[in-house]
Amino acid sequence: MKQSTKLSTALSTEDHKRDSDIPVLIIGCGDIGTRVAALEKAAGRQVAALSRSETSRLNLTQRGIVAVMGDLDNLDSLHELPLKTKVIYYFAPPPSEGCDEPRLTALLAALNEDALASRVVYISTSGVYGDCGGAWVTEEWPVNPRSDRARRRAVAEKRLTEWALVHNVDTVILRVPGIYGPGRLPAERIRRGIPVVREDESPWSNRIHADDLAQACFQAARRGMAGGIYNASDGNPTTMTDYFNRVADFLGLPRPPVISMEEARNTLGPGILSFLEESKRLDNRRMLEELEIELRYPNLSRGLPACLE
Ligand SMILES: NC(=O)c1ccc[n+]([C@@H]2O[C@H](COP(=O)([O-])OP(=O)(O)OC[C@H]3O[C@@H](n4cnc5c(N)ncnc54)[C@H](OP(=O)(O)O)[C@@H]3O)[C@@H](O)[C@H]2O)c1
Repeated sequence: MKQSTKLSTALSTEDHKRDSDIPVLIIGCGDIGTRVAALEKAAGRQVAALSRSETSRLNLTQRGIVAVMGDLDNLDSLHELPLKTKVIYYFAPPPSEGCDEPRLTALLAALNEDALASRVVYISTSGVYGDCGGAWVTEEWPVNPRSDRARRRAVAEKRLTEWALVHNVDTVILRVPGIYGPGRLPAERIRRGIPVVREDESPWSNRIHADDLAQACFQAARRGMAGGIYNASDGNPTTMTDYFNRVADFLGLPRPPVISMEEARNTLGPGILSFLEESKRLDNRRMLEELEIELRYPNLSRGLPACLE
């Protein structure tokens, strides 16, 4: 059983050297994808990426990325996709509603046997663990999604894993918490004065800086164990309230008003509440050790100043 023998098949550097002329394919080449593309190009690899608009095609071309036109919401549009690739990075988000993941399903259907990559690196979410009551959570923690957002990801993880077994493709799944970085701080939420809950009632929250996540993806393509699952976080969770206060201080904005959890349940919308009702601390040791990563931003004190670049 290929997926369960985790020790076997981290891709060797020699393999990559031999096949450096085969493009890496990025499905969902937005913020993280373009960072990974830059790392791959710096490592001498050609990069192709799926693009669903002329604007994104131009953006990719300017970065030296080969644009392959297609939309995951339209299977027929994916006819250009069967490229001979070594690694596929799948970073496109699921649709915003429902409990299924038709976009990933479309991609898998579009790949024919001649065009199978040897490895797929997939960004999932740490939301698949559901609420863990503030516990430290390793990758062995049971998957127990509580929101549709997380259910879509749990479905995607399962579908990708089953498909990969049948097609003899390695998968590496990164379970990712909140991504922060340049242009992705919650400034607007803080400006709107959306309250936070009292520190003693606030859930734990986990984060990773966008550059560190890109590095984790890049290393997952090289060092990740076949079938491996990795918590891709900075390993220094703080409460959610602490996070918003720190960002407010960093941006020179007033700290958000504070309410009790009970008030939050009565006043805040279901989207925000779904985050407040899940608490966990992600253990990132497997990522650090197996992917051989040294985080540039292991905590907010280091990461926030790197959000203005
Ligand atoms: N935000 C967080 O804190 C967080 C936490 C955990 C996991 N994640 C996940 O991490 C992944 C990478 O995040 P990111 O910040 O790089 O996302 P991003 O900047 O929004 O990029 C997503 C990319 O997917 C493409 N895409 C979306 N729908 C598509 C479709 N139907 N067909 C083809 N392409 C499509 C987008 O294309 P267009 O440019 O044309 O829209 C965009 O290039 C995402 O899956 C995200 O959900 C995010």
